[in-house]
Amino acid sequence: METPMEFGHESVVMRLGRRSGLPIVVAVHSTALGRAVGGCRMWAYDSWEDGLRDALRLSEGMTRKCAAAGLPNGGGKTVVVLPPGRSVTADERRAALHDVGDIVAELGGSYVTGPDAGTGPADMAVIGERTEYVFCRPESAGGSGDPSPFTALGVVAALRSTCLALFGSPGLAGRRFAVIGLGHVGEQIARQLAAAGADLVLSDVDPAKRSLGAELGAVFTEPDAAATAEVDVLVPAALGGLLTRDLVPRLRCRAVAGAANNQLADPGVAELLRERDILWAPDYIANAGGVVNAVAREVLGDGPEKAVQRIESITDTLTGLFETAARAGITTARAADDLARRRLAAPAPTAPEP
Ligand code: PHE
Repeated sequence: METPMEFGHESVVMRLGRRSGLPIVVAVHSTALGRAVGGCRMWAYDSWEDGLRDALRLSEGMTRKCAAAGLPNGGGKTVVVLPPGRSVTADERRAALHDVGDIVAELGGSYVTGPDAGTGPADMAVIGERTEYVFCRPESAGGSGDPSPFTALGVVAALRSTCLALFGSPGLAGRRFAVIGLGHVGEQIARQLAAAGADLVLSDVDPAKRSLGAELGAVFTEPDAAATAEVDVLVPAALGGLLTRDLVPRLRCRAVAGAANNQLADPGVAELLRERDILWAPDYIANAGGVVNAVAREVLGDGPEKAVQRIESITDTLTGLFETAARAGITTARAADDLARRRLAAPAPTAPEP
């Protein structure tokens, strides 16, 4: 179910790429706390309207993500709408990335892009041929590189707070997790959980990922079976919208905490989870590690250790939100939104200029 949203974006550029001929959306939701940041998604959609809708929702989510993480940044997002069912050639890809770079350059620094579903550090280097406002170029090109391991690190930090809330101890060993989606981030989460001695159910729409299951000694199943598996924590790490009104009554987990953006198919699902006593780690709190690392390394001048400390503070933020929600009798979604809103209302006075 789709709830209509109120238009609250500062600016949205939608155009056919001059070189690629592909529809490209760059949505800047807010610069109230500083330059807007958010990755560039290159993905197939049934229609350009779907791509536009995704960009609007994801950029708004980035505003909350950055605010709640205490970053001096607002939210934005880029979507390159690929034609459904057809892969793009290397030349078309390059053309689209240059088109994105031109739009970002025109925005004059109010928005900085980065990687997202369907793009990576090498693509950021290509965007970087047209604009300086791009995060996560390869380290060899002066960027902070792939953010995925850091997103995964933050999700694992969130899983520790989730276990603390469920069991009174943050240990992951012997706990059972179902990870849905084994892309860049999901695979790293699975590996870190396996290394910590967790018991795993893994799933991906791509059956070739079965080999990761075998490597990590995990059960591999279809996504629907994994979503309803009897586990301690369900870990969504694919695209958004997993938690639907239809799925929640069938869940057999005690908590949901993962990397996917926009996990709730509609905002009311947060209340359904609460009624079932299933603890939800708000997605934009749990998955902030990637953007936190990029901003820490490339803007705030942090070394690697300081950046990792910032990412690990997700554990404390989330524990605080779980406590607030339990005390006030509200959903964790509401507690997180309140935190983001408070930060947005009172920008840090010393927010450094990137
Ligand atoms: N795309 C990721 C996110 O949604 C991470 C990221 C965004 C990294 C922007 C760097 C810059 O948070």
